[in-house]
Amino acid sequence: MISNSRPVAPDTQEEDATFDVSLRPASFSEFVGQNTVVGKLKVFVEAARRRRGALDHTLLCGPPGLGKTSLAHIMATELGVNVFVTSGPAFERPGDLAGLLTGLSARDVLFLDEIHRLSRVVEERLYQAMEDYKFDVVLGDGPGAQTVQLNLEPFTLIGATTRTGLLTGPMRDRFGIVERLDFYSPEELREIVDRSAERLGVRLHEGASSEIAGRARGTPRIANRLLRRVRDFAEVEGDGRVTRDVARGALNRLEVDGLGLDPMDRRILLTLIDKFDGGPVGLTSLSAAVSEATDTLEEVYEPFLIQEGLLHRTPRGRVATAAAYAHLGRSMPQGGGGQNSLL
Ligand SMILES: Nc1ncnc2c1ncn2[C@@H]1O[C@H](COP(=O)(O)OP(=O)(O)OP(=O)(O)O)[C@@H](O)[C@H]1O
Ligand SMILES: [Mg+2]
Repeated sequence: MISNSRPVAPDTQEEDATFDVSLRPASFSEFVGQNTVVGKLKVFVEAARRRRGALDHTLLCGPPGLGKTSLAHIMATELGVNVFVTSGPAFERPGDLAGLLTGLSARDVLFLDEIHRLSRVVEERLYQAMEDYKFDVVLGDGPGAQTVQLNLEPFTLIGATTRTGLLTGPMRDRFGIVERLDFYSPEELREIVDRSAERLGVRLHEGASSEIAGRARGTPRIANRLLRRVRDFAEVEGDGRVTRDVARGALNRLEVDGLGLDPMDRRILLTLIDKFDGGPVGLTSLSAAVSEATDTLEEVYEPFLIQEGLLHRTPRGRVATAAAYAHLGRSMPQGGGGQNSLL
């Protein structure tokens, strides 16, 4: 998918996988931001530790790259237990779960990423494991099949999902702790960029980190990626020092603008403004005009534009907002634009 090579895509790209691990905060104290959520998690973890019991099953929700996986690892570390990492699509049959679950020691954490992608049969079998620490295994098949019940140690399931809406009610209800991560402020991202630069041995000068943070779309993973790209420019075309001007120049070359929009984001808004008078225009027409699939437009591009208040979804179609006109240097049509009658 095209989006996967965008410098501003929030999901993991090949190179991120290594850097996600090396730049991952290792303790609550290194985890920047999300203060309300982290404040609560610290209390729950400390209480479980004192009680020497398993922490309640925990669900972490929120858009990609905001720190769900990092938090799950931190929680296991602070609980002083092992963490086993797996993800929803890894299980085809309920039996695939048995080995993993029986391998857990008391209080261990099982981190289940993309939990919304578990198949229904596997999900239903997980309920009993979560509630009673028991798991039924069917041996053999046909009339001679036998069910054996395995006893599990009390463990903690930490589930992560980017699509809370796709999680079934019964699954959600089995989590004692449900927390949602939100986009980061530019100040928080600046702190993250500064820390990452230190770890990567990059010398950032005054103003460089805020330049990167401001264009990172509220997402630490994007901030770290932009930092690495800026470093590339500084090393190859400069003397390695990252000043504010070097950062700004590199980000401009990457075509990531002051709000963190990339060329496709801008093209969507400009098409809406120039070809459709700001809208409203149906998703299908818009996607044809920008030559992008409707679901990619809807799932990859629109969420950030909506969040930034640049685009609205209305019952009659997509509409460019006044903020979009202003950002792109276009003047709003006087009274005539479709958006005026809607917003
Ligand atoms: N609060 C934070 N403080 C410092 N760095 C962070 C923070 N949150 C995330 N990061 C950085 O962003 C990277 C991505 O975070 P992480 O993998 O935890 O996100 P995620 O929510 O699990 O994403 P996905 O939904 O794609 O799995 C981390 O490796 C880390 O470098
Ligand atoms: Mg993750």
